[in-house]
Amino acid sequence: MSTEMKNQVVAVTGANAGIGRATARALAAMGAKVLACGRDRGRLDEALASIRAEVTGAEVTPLVADLSSVNEVRGLAEQIRAQTDRLDVLVNNAGIGVDRRQETVDGFELTFAVNHLAPFVLTTELLDLLEASAPARVITVSSANHVGAKTLDLEDLQSRERFAWQDVYARSKLCNVLFTRELARRLAGTGVTANCLHPGVIATEFGAGGDLRGFNAWMFRVLKWFLPGPERGARTSVYLASSPEVAETTGQYFADCKPKEPSRLATDDELAAALWRESERLVDSVPRSPSS
Ligand SMILES: NC(=O)c1ccc[n+]([C@@H]2O[C@H](COP(=O)([O-])OP(=O)(O)OC[C@H]3O[C@@H](n4cnc5c(N)ncnc54)[C@H](OP(=O)(O)O)[C@@H]3O)[C@@H](O)[C@H]2O)c1
Repeated sequence: MSTEMKNQVVAVTGANAGIGRATARALAAMGAKVLACGRDRGRLDEALASIRAEVTGAEVTPLVADLSSVNEVRGLAEQIRAQTDRLDVLVNNAGIGVDRRQETVDGFELTFAVNHLAPFVLTTELLDLLEASAPARVITVSSANHVGAKTLDLEDLQSRERFAWQDVYARSKLCNVLFTRELARRLAGTGVTANCLHPGVIATEFGAGGDLRGFNAWMFRVLKWFLPGPERGARTSVYLASSPEVAETTGQYFADCKPKEPSRLATDDELAAALWRESERLVDSVPRSPSS
């Protein structure tokens, strides 16, 4: 184990599978204390057991929450606070693509809720902890796919008008870039940075478990044979979480550990601010459960 991240506390969502598991493993191997978030205790325990077997002395703690529920995300922030009085890095990694419109317990479209609202809620709930821990970093896993979103209709974030899963996924990943931009603007001068990234096209569990069916599921299964594995996909997240080179870089979109220009729409600061306000309105419409 190296010590580059010794005494650093890192939270990673979607840490039981794919890129998130590889990110948690790599950061644990650098000496970080990793709060590993997943929605299923069994899958999470299995992933953490394998990380502990691979990394002697790995400090990994499982935290369970279903990120499709605003109150479970609020509860996850509380679980993180219960574990630590500092948070150096938050990696918003968990994400999904689903081929049919589904609504969450809060009535939001599922892809939008998990891919955008969950990072929004988790980050905003933890802002005071991150600021108190400065220098600190917020990293959100977006996708090069965000360029596929040619518009973002704030009146139809729930995709009620029309549901085409690739468009819905692309818009949610555009939201990740816009969220990062506005977050960076709001955090200017606090010592907390916000960056997002494309991890590459990587063989993971993405679309498995019935999220994608028929031809789409088949295509992803076949593609997996030709794609690099999750360790490769974790590289840019790990770089943004740990490298001194990017200690002060903020508001940027990265791919292959390098800053990259996102789509034109993703650089629209007015849209980023409007998305933030609308996200706040949506989240505020969900009453806090007594436990969150
Ligand atoms: N793979 C690629 O080529 C690629 C390309 C661009 C961007 N990305 C992005 O990379 C990130 C990681 O994806 P991946 O490829 O590693 O996929 P993955 O293997 O399917 O991992 C996704 C993770 O998110 C978790 N998750 C999904 N829904 C959740 C929920 N409701 N509550 C809590 N956790 C939930 C999953 O938990 P379960 O195991 O319980 O489902 C899993 O741990 C995503 O944001 C994705 O959009 C991936």
